[in-house]
Amino acid sequence: MKFSVVGSGTMGRGIGQIFAQSGYNVVQVDVSKQALDNARVAIIDSLNKLERKGSLKDTPDRIISRMEFTDNMDSISESDMVIEAVFERLDIKTETLKRIGATVGKNTIIGSNTSSISINLLSAYVDNPERFMGIHFFNPVPVMKLVELVSGEKTSSDLMKKVYELLVTIGKDPVTVRDFPGFVSNRVLMPLIREAILAFEESVASASDIDKTFRLGMNHPMGPLELADFIGLDVCQDIMEVLYTNYGDPRFKPPITLRNLVNSKKLGRKTGEGFYKYEVKK
Ligand code: 3HC
Repeated sequence: MKFSVVGSGTMGRGIGQIFAQSGYNVVQVDVSKQALDNARVAIIDSLNKLERKGSLKDTPDRIISRMEFTDNMDSISESDMVIEAVFERLDIKTETLKRIGATVGKNTIIGSNTSSISINLLSAYVDNPERFMGIHFFNPVPVMKLVELVSGEKTSSDLMKKVYELLVTIGKDPVTVRDFPGFVSNRVLMPLIREAILAFEESVASASDIDKTFRLGMNHPMGPLELADFIGLDVCQDIMEVLYTNYGDPRFKPPITLRNLVNSKKLGRKTGEGFYKYEVKK
């Protein structure tokens, strides 16, 4: 099978990497050449880490040689499966899905890595929507075993089964969820992050003590504010917007501190500052 991933940010490049690691050829697409260069560097870095731990079946060089990095969408035309992993914005996702549909064959499987947008809504932009479904990965993709598989009303049950089995063969452990905004993961995670931000705004405790509460009190690997920085504050805000618009419930409303940080381009780890400061790799 030949795979393509459209969108080469943190999630997209992780998805491309795990398929290449499992022996498949992957076309990694982005409109930005800079994003493609960053993706290649991040994938090499991740593969080196995995090699040092002895958890690769192949060398990083051979794995990366199975990946084509391109800004030419026509390169995906021969794919058996394409995963869309662009920004979590309805307009960008629908435009991308229309372009994918116009480029690949009628039977090519199309998955969306959307973390919150309805699969039924997105399926309106895909011809033959029975070949379309949600395939939601978690960051860092090479490490996290979970994938949320989301069936739309028109998704074929055979496709759900096929993709489930495929993901198991590449080492993932999926769950199947109904098409509700935010599915299970972000519906539950985003209110936690939101409430932690509100506790920070109300000076209940410092950011590090809020996080320590969850690391030491609940055994979470990261507290909610460090996790928000890790996911990307812009990504958290986009997801909260989708949830707030769809459920109309204030428990999803992006807090003002989150908006202010995003407006100041303090997006978390990737920009060097969010709730905490980080060293950014050049
Ligand atoms: N590629 C390969 N390996 C990686 C990696 C990467 N990008 N990032 C981390 N690792 C490996 C490390 O080599 C290490 O392996 P080892 O334990 O076998 O030695 C292991 O992962 C742990 O890494 P570190 O020692 O560097 O750091 P930590 O112990 O702090 O773990 C972490 C890092 C795995 C990110 C951990 O902190 C964690 O699990 N955090 C929570 C992550 C999480 O919740 N992700 C989901 C976010 S929600 C989401 O993605 C959904 C979206 O829609 C918002």
